[in-house]
Amino acid sequence: MAVLKAWLLALVISGGCCGIFLSPPYAQGADKHHPSLTSVHAESDSAPGQRVFMDECASCHGQNADGRSPMGPSMNPPAFDLTGFEFSETFLWRVIREGVPGTEMPAWRSLSGEEVREVVGYISSLEDSSSLPADKQLADPEVLQEAGRRVYAMHCVRCHGVNGDGQGPEAAQYVPRPCDFTVMRPSYEAGRRVIRNGVTGSAMPGWPLLTEAEIQAVTHYIRSLYRWPERHTELSHNKQQSLVHHSNELAANQR
Ligand code: HEC
Ligand code: HEC
Repeated sequence: MAVLKAWLLALVISGGCCGIFLSPPYAQGADKHHPSLTSVHAESDSAPGQRVFMDECASCHGQNADGRSPMGPSMNPPAFDLTGFEFSETFLWRVIREGVPGTEMPAWRSLSGEEVREVVGYISSLEDSSSLPADKQLADPEVLQEAGRRVYAMHCVRCHGVNGDGQGPEAAQYVPRPCDFTVMRPSYEAGRRVIRNGVTGSAMPGWPLLTEAEIQAVTHYIRSLYRWPERHTELSHNKQQSLVHHSNELAANQR
């Protein structure tokens, strides 16, 4: 355990790339010495959507959904690390049914409504919504919020929009589109990695000159733009039924 801690600490100190290595399935795997072998199988009974995920999604997003697959990193943009973000359920339904234009994320019209519902549930169960541990927090929340607002106004608004909905004045010229922070919330870890390095194959630039504190502040700010506490209560029963029904129709049309 001490060795593991020292190793993790070394990664944290070594900087921007640690998000790739520290995604939760690795950190929490039952057998920490062989995380890639255990974390997947440990949960296989508890998550019905995991079968759908393994069949349809893991080839790109990786067995642990962290974007690490043989193909994942070579795509432009690379396959998402699904463990580093919270997503609204409505957004997940849309992405799975329609895909992401300008990327290799396909539309899944052949999945039944039931299968989509299961895999949405599975992805929601993986999300790293972790708040920042007190000892990592570089300033009080109010200070982070205000500093983050300024960084955001200066550097991010033109693409991600004043409300964070991805509709900034420049947004329309880019494919894939700037993401919508009202339906998608990065963990501090993922925010740091993306903001530092940018996203290859997209207009999202890296910001190597922002300081650690500025990156933490702007991540804090964009997290505050998330508008979907819905995720925690689940979609209403009626809404879910109608999404399941619609997906079944799409799947039937495919046959
Ligand atoms: C052929 C490779 C491939 C497969 C298979 C695939 N994805 Fe993706 N997925 C991607 C790529 C590439 C991205 C990154 C898109 C981007 O950066 O905008 C992505 C992004 C996403 C996102 C983030 C949404 C966004 O706006 O970027 C979600 C959620 C997602 N995929 C879910 C799934 C699910 C669920 C499945 C299985 C039903 C799946 N993916 C199968 C390649 C794939
Ligand atoms: C020139 C336009 C542009 C600017 C400026 C910009 N972004 Fe982005 N951003 C994008 C695009 C396009 C994407 C979608 C990438 C994709 O599909 O994977 C994105 C995605 C993201 C993501 C999600 C990661 C992902 O893989 O999609 C985060 C977090 C983010 N941006 C944060 C920021 C922050 C913080 C700033 C300001 C410091 C900023 N962006 C400035 C265009 C921009």
